[in-house]
Amino acid sequence: MVKVTFIEQDGKRREIDAVAGDPLMYSAKDAGIDGIVAECGGSAMCATCHCYLLEAPNGPLPDPLVDEADTIEFNANEPRENSRLTCQIKVTEALEGAVFQVATGR
Ligand code: FES
Repeated sequence: MVKVTFIEQDGKRREIDAVAGDPLMYSAKDAGIDGIVAECGGSAMCATCHCYLLEAPNGPLPDPLVDEADTIEFNANEPRENSRLTCQIKVTEALEGAVFQVATGR
């Protein structure tokens, strides 16, 4: 398990145990993180798993691939430079201690 923190839309911080090898969205959904809807089931199409990466203590994450970047640009609410789709982030040990803020406005 990999400890990852989410800041929910109401500002509440929640640390979850993310499953290594899975998309981060799965663990966020299982933990009931408020605001992670994941309407498309992880296909990088809906942007309802959109979060902002605030802290990555073990170094930067791999850059988004084209599908993720396009969906963030065209479908995400309030995209920012640190926007990520949690369905496209594979959980690894390197994610330990990372902090994500759930994007607002969906
Ligand atoms: S679950 Fe739809 S884009 Fe991530």
